[in-house]
Amino acid sequence: MPARPDPVPDLDWDPARAHAFGTRVLDLWTEWLERMPELPVTRTFDPAEVRHALDLPVPEAPMAEDDLLDRLRELTFGQSVPVGHPAFSAYIVGAGTVPGAVTELLAAGLNPNLGGYRLGPGAAEIELYLTRWLAARFGLPDGAGGMILTGGAMANFTALKCARDERLGAATRQRGVAAAGPVALYASSEAHVVIARAADMLGLGAGAVRSVAVDADQRMDPAALEAALADDAEHGVRPLALCATAGTTTTGSIDPLPALAALAERHGLWFHVDAAYGGAAVLAPALAPLLAGIERADSIAFDPHKWLYTAQSAGCVLLRDFGALSRSFHADASYVWLDDAVRQGVDFAMHGPQFSRGFAALKVWVSLLAHGTDAYGRRIAHDVALAEYLGALVAVHPDFTLMCPPRLSICCFRYTPAGFDGSEAELDRLNERLMTAIHVDGRVFCSNAVIDGRFGLRACIVNFRTEAEDLELLLDVASGLGDELQAVRPGTATPDS
Ligand SMILES: Cc1ncc(COP(=O)(O)O)c(C=O)c1O
Repeated sequence: MPARPDPVPDLDWDPARAHAFGTRVLDLWTEWLERMPELPVTRTFDPAEVRHALDLPVPEAPMAEDDLLDRLRELTFGQSVPVGHPAFSAYIVGAGTVPGAVTELLAAGLNPNLGGYRLGPGAAEIELYLTRWLAARFGLPDGAGGMILTGGAMANFTALKCARDERLGAATRQRGVAAAGPVALYASSEAHVVIARAADMLGLGAGAVRSVAVDADQRMDPAALEAALADDAEHGVRPLALCATAGTTTTGSIDPLPALAALAERHGLWFHVDAAYGGAAVLAPALAPLLAGIERADSIAFDPHKWLYTAQSAGCVLLRDFGALSRSFHADASYVWLDDAVRQGVDFAMHGPQFSRGFAALKVWVSLLAHGTDAYGRRIAHDVALAEYLGALVAVHPDFTLMCPPRLSICCFRYTPAGFDGSEAELDRLNERLMTAIHVDGRVFCSNAVIDGRFGLRACIVNFRTEAEDLELLLDVASGLGDELQAVRPGTATPDS
């Protein structure tokens, strides 16, 4: 008889212990929620100190639970940034829904692998339902659907992989893109860099993306697009995909979707819309018309972890023809063979770039169920009203100038103090220093915008805790810090000198 290995139960915890530990972690997180408004919304971290505070070496023996909790407390209150803080309006980072965060525990606890339907049928059906529902909200027809991915970068990549294979032919998957000859994608100069990165990853080269000029409202100029198409046609370059943006990262502009859809149809281009940020407007009845034309898209990238407020990470790709995903990603693999008698449902491993996949859809689905679409619509519209309110405050403030009208939930403005007699380039430097001062100060947290080469500040409200007073505070803090910077402006006499 072979020696029979003894059980090694070290890594398992019984449910009572899991509950006790889970309760302590839950207490920590709810304390974080309670204390969040009093925490500095941003500060400068010294990476060496962060490393030191968390004491990363992994022990050989189990760490005492109290010590472990201490580390988690240090991580939470000492070394984290409260992006759900009411004064957070930097970048495009959703505040993180509360019911979504709680259900992350269940998603990890159930641990379905959404690569294979047999490893999580309920999870797969939720993801399929959710993406079909989103596709329908955007006006895509029956047969549309998609999948949850890690974010806008992967969603745009996955959509453009489908575009490549549908337009250049299935053989491209085997032969590569060289045989196709030169091809071009078209995106505006305001498109997110992940479009060019997707072209790079697809073997087309980032240089295949034509940077189409925008109009005065930062929207793709259809005439400039036609000129780029004509130029490529003259040089024997094959047009592959048109990538419109619905809600640009810098200003929230929405490209003229109906005109671009018509051009895409006329030239046989795959019509992709990057609605990673702006797509959420579809849930607010008064804003949804801004997205008219998106229903003509072949593919859409949309990120719940932006303006649906869901925690990182949850992006989403939607295809007009769900089948395009499997045509582009299916691969035969002997180690996942199943007899037809037991093969059921959709194996997401064969529909996208990932093989094993977690259950990110759960937090999105539960958040929508827990809050309902009316609450989402109201809050999304409120975020837009807040950006407009900030714009109105800026318009009458002696120290600031709007860089462009607020669009969606973004307001871009520049510190232009009365009496400043320097050049535009000096104003750029002053605004750069002001943003840094804001980040060091810690009472408010905005980021920046560069529009037509000019540097300014930018607030993007994808935060259901932000209210009017937080935006008033943003201007007060920026104006006060601006005054201080002015007082010590290089070459200017300081009060003490
Ligand atoms: C319009 C747009 N597309 C794509 C992305 C990239 O998304 P992610 O950071 O989720 O990968 C962003 C990020 O802000 C974005 O604003």
